[in-house]
Amino acid sequence: MKVFINKNIPEAGIKLLQDKGISFTINPTENLLSREEFIKICQEHDALLNVGTNKLDEDFFQRCPNLKGIALFSVGFDSVNIPSANSRKIPVGNTPDVLSRATSDVAFLLMQSVARKSFFNHKRILGNDWGSFDPLANLGQELYGKTLGVFGLGRIGIEMAKKCKAAFGMKIIYHNRSHNEAAEKELDAKYVDFETLLAKSDVLSVHSNYSEENNELFNKNAFAKMKSSAIFINTARGKFQNENDLYDALTNNIIWGAGLDVTNPEPMKSDNPLLSLANCCALPHIGSATYEARNGMAVCAAQNVIAVIEGKKMPFCVNE
Ligand code: DGY
Repeated sequence: MKVFINKNIPEAGIKLLQDKGISFTINPTENLLSREEFIKICQEHDALLNVGTNKLDEDFFQRCPNLKGIALFSVGFDSVNIPSANSRKIPVGNTPDVLSRATSDVAFLLMQSVARKSFFNHKRILGNDWGSFDPLANLGQELYGKTLGVFGLGRIGIEMAKKCKAAFGMKIIYHNRSHNEAAEKELDAKYVDFETLLAKSDVLSVHSNYSEENNELFNKNAFAKMKSSAIFINTARGKFQNENDLYDALTNNIIWGAGLDVTNPEPMKSDNPLLSLANCCALPHIGSATYEARNGMAVCAAQNVIAVIEGKKMPFCVNE
């Protein structure tokens, strides 16, 4: 049984595979492979440890009939056509929990960065525009006692809510497919419908799994229902937002600001008009980019691969 790893991962995961005597190949190039190169190599392997968001769609599964399992190096599994995997009984694993703190840290960082216009103010220094003290200029907003609306109160959303509650005494409302009673108790969080989430949130932070049915859910209509003082944060998937509508909302005072760790599309180009705005902060999808989280992800992914090779149930399986 041979494993293909399409981009190098932290040593913690590699070592686990080596300790088990598993035979694997790591993509030798610095970059992700083209789709054709990638499929060609996957055809010769039994398991894939997949880094990145390359589409594992029906065409991919049809053309790689030897694959017996896929371990993603991510918690999100929107890159995989799960029905295609299911119909072939191919387990798909992800990396839950280990990146929840790191990703919610970035949501929290963006929330404060937007509230205090920190990216814009940093640019002022770079542009020799510090100027003299002006009591009326560059004012931000404080978050004490405000309402955090969480779209998707799963592991990452809960971590974000805990931080907002502890740091600013924020009230928590959330919208999910179902109630999260444990979190409601722990965080005194209140379940609301989507319209109420839009209307009542001072900060609306997206933490849900992405699926097609939620494509560009945060669009003109949604922004129009939010408070003009609201901050929109997305650290989940860029496809949740329509960026032309977001630009309009930010430039016409429909909402107050936005913080994005994920963009639509990715990567965001340097001439993206959102980057010119004082009320928008963007980062290049670094939610899980800490030593701790990435090591944890490497271990989870390696454990999932080992399970495939040993013919056992994956410890972190999204489709079994
Ligand atoms: C994840 O784990 O899903 C992160 O977004 C990295 O892709």
